[in-house]
Amino acid sequence: MKTVKLLSACLLLLPLVSCTQVQNKGGDAATEQKVEALLSKMTLEEKLGQMNQISSYGNIEDMSGLIKKGEIGSILNEVDPVRVNALQRVAVEESRLGIPLLMARDVIHGFKTIFPIPLGQAATFDPQVVEDGAWIAAIEASSVGVRWTFSPMIDVSRDPRWGRIAESCGEDTYLSSVLGAAMVKGYQGDSLNSPTSIAACAKHFVGYGAAEGGRDYNSTFISERNLRNIYLPPFEAAAKAGAATFMTSFNDNDGVPSTGNKFILRDVLRGEWGFDGLVVTDWNSAREMIAHGVATDDKDAAALAVNAGVDMEMVSYTFFKYLPEEIKAGKVKQSVVDEAVRNILRVKFRLGLFDNPYVDEKKASVMYDASHLEAAKRAAEESAILLKNEGEVLPLKENIRTVAVVGPMADAPHDQLGTWIFDGEKAHTQTPLTAIKEMYGDKVQVIYEQGLAYSRDKNTAGISKAVAAAQRADVVIAFVGEESILSGEAHCLADLNLQGAQSELIAALAKTGRPLVTVIMAGRPLTIGKEVEASNAVLYSFHPGTMGGPALADLLFGKAVPSGKTPVTFLKTVGQVPLYYAHNNSGRPASSHLKPLDEVPLEASQTSEGSSSSYMDVGAQPLYPFGYGLSYTTFKYGKPQLSAGELSSKDVLTVTFDLENTGKYEGTEIAQLYVQDKVASVTRPVKELKRFARVTLKPGEKKTVSFELPISELAFWNLNMVKTVEPGDFGLWVGPDSQTGDEVFFKVVD
Ligand code: GLC
Repeated sequence: MKTVKLLSACLLLLPLVSCTQVQNKGGDAATEQKVEALLSKMTLEEKLGQMNQISSYGNIEDMSGLIKKGEIGSILNEVDPVRVNALQRVAVEESRLGIPLLMARDVIHGFKTIFPIPLGQAATFDPQVVEDGAWIAAIEASSVGVRWTFSPMIDVSRDPRWGRIAESCGEDTYLSSVLGAAMVKGYQGDSLNSPTSIAACAKHFVGYGAAEGGRDYNSTFISERNLRNIYLPPFEAAAKAGAATFMTSFNDNDGVPSTGNKFILRDVLRGEWGFDGLVVTDWNSAREMIAHGVATDDKDAAALAVNAGVDMEMVSYTFFKYLPEEIKAGKVKQSVVDEAVRNILRVKFRLGLFDNPYVDEKKASVMYDASHLEAAKRAAEESAILLKNEGEVLPLKENIRTVAVVGPMADAPHDQLGTWIFDGEKAHTQTPLTAIKEMYGDKVQVIYEQGLAYSRDKNTAGISKAVAAAQRADVVIAFVGEESILSGEAHCLADLNLQGAQSELIAALAKTGRPLVTVIMAGRPLTIGKEVEASNAVLYSFHPGTMGGPALADLLFGKAVPSGKTPVTFLKTVGQVPLYYAHNNSGRPASSHLKPLDEVPLEASQTSEGSSSSYMDVGAQPLYPFGYGLSYTTFKYGKPQLSAGELSSKDVLTVTFDLENTGKYEGTEIAQLYVQDKVASVTRPVKELKRFARVTLKPGEKKTVSFELPISELAFWNLNMVKTVEPGDFGLWVGPDSQTGDEVFFKVVD
């Protein structure tokens, strides 16, 4: 039994997955023989039944009738173990061939024990914490019969208007690759046929996070080169990590909906990566190709999807209903259907469903096990990002006797869990208010005033009470942010300022002159410049989940020390979208200098204000860059030493540097390594994250940190659309974020 490794922060040297052919995981002959033997017995209707997924509904007799006929291969959204077994029994014992059902659910950041939303988990830069969270989710979900989750969501997301940034690992290709692979490992464990393993699903394949305007489901226009250099690598990493399934995305990229995109599904996923698991559509996304305007009707949509390489259809039922006709009409080959069914059966055999189709209904509940809650607390602690700490107001000092806890997110058990918590229960949420009272009520008197009833509340009547509470306290802790409904699928925002009267609340609290700590719980990076200005300290906690309260309480009172780093750029204003660190330089890069707009003289001459890629009013600098986060202590970086100044593409570059804790608290620093390809056959990003490590140091302690970077990992898809390392000069930085660090140089010579 694998224990939940509650690792202390340690040096994790994380090799980026190389882009070699993905190991063909299903290659074992025994499985293939079973697949072929079963396939040879199946009628066309039974084959199409395997390709058909429905969402569970009340009438179990009705579903049982369909299952008995072999019309259903998978069911999502059934989490009652008694009903799961009843449906499975019909499939296994009453249908002609006894093929078990694949039971699925969106287990995105926990099943009952809810972890921080994935964007928050990304802020930990801790693959072990992320893997542990997925593994715990698998234990809880599989205990009710779920054996397939629609996670990890590894869409590189660079637009905070897009609600689903909450579900992503943020803006960076490398971070998304490492954490996506960790989630696959966590869900699937050491062997997929373990009853506590669940099949992972790499989604949404591909490019969904680049939806134009940050509006969900919208078109994307990603060139093949950008697909291959930015959006595909996390999916290749997931495939290489053994992800059993993939899900197609809703977007059309360059005019081709992913659900009908042969290039990504057959050429790249199967042809280049050797993936042999199953591909499922997103909800109704096969039929939605009619709305996209590339299919005339359900028949057409079914043929387009299955010919492109989709194996299973989520809920739109067009495969089962119309593929017989399309096969008769010669529009779909029987062999294409057979291949799809092979992929589905292969996953079911790998999951061990034929040997163990049923869930143990008598097993004692594993939900909310103490070790699960402890892991969720650790994840919430590590996901919190300290953005500001003026005058070291944090951690709260011994002389603090009275604390005013205010704001709509201080005691919001539902909203604290964040988006996609189908099975999470707010009754189990431990909020900051309850945690501070329970854990620190012996040290401080807590005065609680909501101020606002919820994040969108415009009724300012309660603000005066919050102000009065603040005036009686030694310190004010304001919990603001977003209700969970404001992020997630289809929940996009054009304005990223705090909703409702939250800004007024913060301003009124600041006016009391009492030290103000603002804690923000949200599903995305908000434009919080005003609130940061008004606060002495700011802690950002992307919807931290069940144990967010105890985590934040220990961070505020110093039992834990913040280590989180921004997994996505924080903007000054939504008008800067898109703004991310791994941008190209352009021919006229923006300077960091910004002249106040009011200082531009009247009738200024045309070119007097210079000409660079920036905004006259706010400039092109973010509020906080990618990879940014403070600690209660301070760290000093030594200059990086390189193992060589000239290397071939077959060499490994070793980068070593000293890291010292120069402050008063033990803390964990996430050291980051960035590289820039100075001159290449196409323009390249000014920086790209290539390694990171969590390093824990006691006050005064110094460690030598070492990264191994194979030069092959500097390969990119170049002007000729060849993936290669081009010789030339490279810059390299190690530092605390994407904007800080001494640059050193090396050459690639062959
Ligand atoms: C949704 C989402 C997808 C989810 C699926 C099943 O529309 O796009 O991420 O897994 O449907 O709920």
